Amino acid sequence: MTLSEPEATEFPVRLPGESFPPLQYADFREQPGLIRSTLPTGSPVWLVSRYEDVRTVLTDRRISSDPAREGFPNVARTGGVPTRDQIPGWFVGIDPPEHDRFRKALIPEFSVRRIRQWRPLIQETVDRCVDHLLSLGDSADLVSEFALPVPSLVISTMLGVPFVDREFFESRTKTLVNLKTTTEDERGVAVQELLRYIGRLIKVKQRRAGDDLISRLLESAVLSPEELTGVVMLLLIAGHETTANNIALGVVTLLSNPQWIGDDRAVDELLRYHSVADLVALRVAVEDVEIGGQVVRAGEGIIPLIAGANHDLNSFDRPDEFDPGRAARHHVAFGYGVHQCLGQNLVRAEMEIVYQTLFRRVPTLAVDADVTALPFKYDGTLFGLHELPVRW
Ligand code: HEM
Repeated sequence: MTLSEPEATEFPVRLPGESFPPLQYADFREQPGLIRSTLPTGSPVWLVSRYEDVRTVLTDRRISSDPAREGFPNVARTGGVPTRDQIPGWFVGIDPPEHDRFRKALIPEFSVRRIRQWRPLIQETVDRCVDHLLSLGDSADLVSEFALPVPSLVISTMLGVPFVDREFFESRTKTLVNLKTTTEDERGVAVQELLRYIGRLIKVKQRRAGDDLISRLLESAVLSPEELTGVVMLLLIAGHETTANNIALGVVTLLSNPQWIGDDRAVDELLRYHSVADLVALRVAVEDVEIGGQVVRAGEGIIPLIAGANHDLNSFDRPDEFDPGRAARHHVAFGYGVHQCLGQNLVRAEMEIVYQTLFRRVPTLAVDADVTALPFKYDGTLFGLHELPVRW
């Protein structure tokens, strides 16, 4: 399928190393219609950069999330988005009405009420991670020593991973996101090891249920054990680097805006401002559909740019300024529509607890580098930091 429109914009659209906000997106929003780009695979794709257009894409039932469909934009660095044949239960790639079954089974586990019950455990985990950080002396890399372990340890507790296996679990999930020091083969092995481990864990919980997410999902009997394995894997992957990137970028932004430290209103503004999951919501048109004045043909790939929408002047005043005093809750950092992030209440709780605890317990925390020269990463899916040198 070829797109018969203007010159293609290079991909990825935000340059590796570029800090925030994404400068090019302001130009995209000014242009009529949509932006045409070509993926590293050579396939054409439409980029959507205006807030209203992004929400339209994410709610139009003629647009699919199924990576098995022809034309689906494969932006991933390794292997692409798994299809349901590869990992049953990978429901972010399943369209309604079948998607509803997964969503209904999981929503009670991530409700505001349920996450409130997990808060003491999140606090305990964050405290342990701060203990670890402080044990390293007076400086460290905040990404590898704190931001990555926090979400991994929290979700493994929620899933009911036994304490003795946490280290295995954390090291394998870290391998998956550590693109700088691991090879594609090593990441493939880590995925297989995790899938095998989750399969075994499910069998253990089938014999002896605990007070955890896997046991409750088994009890509800809505999902098969194979589907549940894929669901657990999705929860691990979807919530790891995304949350870690937000934690690290948030520390940088809050240290530059210290008047907002300790104010929980900063959390949603940080999510909007950084928009780490910029290229996460991938779609393909199933029928011809008009978006922002552009006809997208059936079979053409579409990428709603999350950071584009969240920095749209028509939806946020002074969008490139960090201002937690604004009403930011309508941001699309978690997507929009039926696939909107399942983990958002968990993320908010983690970020609130992380910032309150970290800045209270390490009041002299400072970035140990020139902020403009930090190693920002943008490798085609998520925006974040490779490393964040800090001292205290
Ligand atoms: C979906 C962002 C953390 C689980 C999504 C989507 C976005 C997103 C943009 C929509 C994808 C789409 O429409 O195709 C984020 C961000 C996070 C975060 C920015 C951290 C700051 C988490 C966490 C979990 C999680 C902690 C769970 C432990 C999921 C799941 C989906 C999803 C399961 C798929 C939902 C569905 O298809 O119904 N996330 N996420 N996410 N997220 Fe998150």
